[in-house]
Amino acid sequence: MKRIGVLTSGGDAPGMNAAIRAVVRTAIQNDMSVVGFKRGYNGLLMRSRDDRDDFEMMTARSVSDKIHRGGTFLMTARCLDFLDEKYQKLAVSNLRTLGIEGMVCIGGDGTYRGALALNNLGMPTIGVPGTIDNDLAYTDYTIGFDTALNTACECINRIRETSDSHERVSLITVMGRNCGDIAVHTALACGAELFMIPEIPWSLEDIAERVKWGVMRGKRSMIIVFAEGALSSLTSDLAKICSEHESLSEVSLHHITSSQIAQIIEELSGHETRATVLGYIQRGGSPSARDRILASRLGAHAVRLLKEDRGGLAVGVRADALIEVPLDSVQVGDRRQNEDLERLIDVMAVMTR
Ligand code: F6P
Repeated sequence: MKRIGVLTSGGDAPGMNAAIRAVVRTAIQNDMSVVGFKRGYNGLLMRSRDDRDDFEMMTARSVSDKIHRGGTFLMTARCLDFLDEKYQKLAVSNLRTLGIEGMVCIGGDGTYRGALALNNLGMPTIGVPGTIDNDLAYTDYTIGFDTALNTACECINRIRETSDSHERVSLITVMGRNCGDIAVHTALACGAELFMIPEIPWSLEDIAERVKWGVMRGKRSMIIVFAEGALSSLTSDLAKICSEHESLSEVSLHHITSSQIAQIIEELSGHETRATVLGYIQRGGSPSARDRILASRLGAHAVRLLKEDRGGLAVGVRADALIEVPLDSVQVGDRRQNEDLERLIDVMAVMTR
């Protein structure tokens, strides 16, 4: 291959810039030129008036001073049009016009669906896992996960201090729409007492009992880590709980917020409970050294595969070794086995009965 393209798509993740840098510099040193596409798959559709809004030729200097920066300088977007085969074909035709023979797509599950479509239409494409959620089970880690964890831990350290001073329970909502990895790892790293994730059914009654039990055992304050998608595995009858407690009459059953979850826990446990939603703060920030190294290794590996004319693969790491698996075998939402970590959270917080 003489020319390849690179793009970032979906939610941004710290380390995406380091991955682009690795793709560009590895390619150039293997005598391949690189085109950087902007705003994810939108760039491939070339709908802007000015081409420079859609793509640019990359040089070794285009990626200078980028390895330590969060976000993605190629920008990112979710491109719904790209679900349509008509637009996928248009993208492949545009890529051929530019002389591009292979693509590297950096992102999460949605990005991988687009990458597979390009590959199936004859454009060899490699997926590089870039998402803070760590929800691609074929790889131990995705780019951005480590930084997001460190950010969440730093925030929770601060919350713990105020929580302890006021002898309160703190419910902290972390990202992870369909995957509890950020929550489980954050809970263990922060010494949280409890966590709720989409993969494990939980009830408000049980959480409240465990809060009471922790307080009885002498805990002054408690940390509960709540994955944003965990409402999907709530088993409690919310309507019944709210109708039985006057102070909960205002809780909206259709759009329950983290503050309302905290309010219910407070009512059921009798212990003051406050909520904090960390939100996008977890997606920003300079990537950790671990994410920079992972991104550099995966970006370079993706280019080496294209150099060998191999496409239709997703790169990753297992037990610290680089791997590649067929893109069409990547199981989105495949449950990662975290049971050991989950048990350890209970043991470390002395929450085993
Ligand atoms: O990047 C993944 C993720 O952070 C999810 O955990 C979250 O639900 C989602 O992105 C939200 O992203 P956006 O609001 O940009 O669609």
